[in-house]
Amino acid sequence: MGSRLKDKVAIITGGASGLGFSGVKLFLQEGASVVVVDYDDKQLKKVIKPLEEKGKKVIGIKADVSCEEDWKKVVKKTVAKFKKIDILVNNAGIHIPQDVLHVEAADWQKVLNINALGMVLGIKHCAPIMKKNGGGSIINTSSIGAEIGGFGDGYSVAYSMSKGAVRALTKHASQVLGKDNIRVNTVMPGVMFTDMTVKLGFKSRQELGKIYKGTACLPPFAGEANDIGYLYLYLASDESKYATGSEFIVDGGWVASSGTASDGRTYE
Ligand SMILES: NC(=O)c1ccc[n+]([C@@H]2O[C@H](COP(=O)([O-])OP(=O)(O)OC[C@H]3O[C@@H](n4cnc5c(N)ncnc54)[C@H](O)[C@@H]3O)[C@@H](O)[C@H]2O)c1
Repeated sequence: MGSRLKDKVAIITGGASGLGFSGVKLFLQEGASVVVVDYDDKQLKKVIKPLEEKGKKVIGIKADVSCEEDWKKVVKKTVAKFKKIDILVNNAGIHIPQDVLHVEAADWQKVLNINALGMVLGIKHCAPIMKKNGGGSIINTSSIGAEIGGFGDGYSVAYSMSKGAVRALTKHASQVLGKDNIRVNTVMPGVMFTDMTVKLGFKSRQELGKIYKGTACLPPFAGEANDIGYLYLYLASDESKYATGSEFIVDGGWVASSGTASDGRTYE
């Protein structure tokens, strides 16, 4: 048990699975009280119960991040239970793979509502509570799909656009909230083996990585949840106290290698 987040209160959206759940476990290990927000009630109960049984300072709240009324409920319950909010990880996100020629307007809107509006609403309702307490840290999860277009994200126009919006939101919010000592940063994962990629049909990290060999530099060419969980931890803690408005890429070298020649040359 460490103390990097001692006495801090964190909300993590989409915390019942994948990258968010990695953050939940690491934050608890480092002394934070954690509010896990997710709209999958079944999964939420499944992950919260064992943590509660171990006596962890954790609660689960079923909420849809794209619903403003749900955010009011989340903030009210968090303050009632833990008195304050120091950290918000805007991690919840969905993916509907449709390219620009096949996109359904309703699906596009749904992705934007959850992936982009959901983060706006989280900041709108949590930042005033952080301000009362002297500051805080907000972490917005984007994707390298926002950097390299469709290839990194299953050819999805809505997903890339929503993740581009997250980058702009971070820069905007860091300007608005800096005076209140609230930091806002963007995390840009490459391909990570989580439930999201399982839903896209991949059974293991190795199987997922196989199709990205030559795209990412680091074997097995796909990351795992803790690769991002540890970044969440750094950005949540006071160790990152001078970082705001910035983008943190963890992608096994994918973006760096996207300028690689495609004629079969290797670096062996
Ligand atoms: N896995 C990857 O390769 C990858 C790469 C880049 C970025 N990301 C981003 O990382 C974040 C986490 O992804 P993951 O791979 O852990 O996904 P995941 O599917 O394993 O977990 C996402 C969680 O968010 C929850 N959620 C979805 N919509 C919600 C809503 N409206 N309200 C509340 N909860 C909701 C889901 O129930 C789920 O528990 C997402 O924003 C995703 O876009 C993932």
